[in-house]
Amino acid sequence: MKLYSLLSLLFLAGCTQPIIANESYSLAEISLHNTSSDCWIIINNSVYDITEYVSMHPGGGSILQGCGTNSTILFETRPSGSNTPHSTNARNTLINYLLGEVE
Ligand code: HEM
Repeated sequence: MKLYSLLSLLFLAGCTQPIIANESYSLAEISLHNTSSDCWIIINNSVYDITEYVSMHPGGGSILQGCGTNSTILFETRPSGSNTPHSTNARNTLINYLLGEVE
C-alpha cells in the first residue's frame, strides 16, 4: 500500500512539472503566422501556436486580431469585450500551445 502511495505521488509530481520550451523565434518569423489557419501569438515574451484553439475560443473571432503579433496587451485588456484580463483558466489553456520564446 505504501509503495502504491509513493508511486501515485511521483506520478502526480511528474504531471505538474512546468513545460520548458527551449526554442526561440524571431519577430519576423512569428509575424508570418497571422491567419486563422496558422495563428501564432506572443504573450509576455512567450510564443504560442494557437491555431487549433481559434475555433474553440469563447470570445469568438476577436482572438484573430492577435495572430502574428505581440498580443500581450490584447490578452490583458480585451478591448473588444469586457476590457478585463483573461481568467486563470484562459492562462492555463495557453500553456498547452507553448512553442518557445521570442528571440
Ligand atoms: C489575444 C487576443 C485575444 C482576444 C482579443 C480575446 C478576446 C476575448 C473576448 C472578447 C472574450 C469574451 C469575454 C470577455 O470579453 O470578457 C474572451 C474570452 C475568453 N478567451 Fe480570449 N481573447 C484572446 C486570446 C485568447 C487566448 C490566447 C486564449 C487561450 C488560449 C483565450 C481564452 C479565452 C477564454 C477561456 C475565455 C472565456 C473567459 C475567460 O476565461 O476569461 N483568449 N476572449
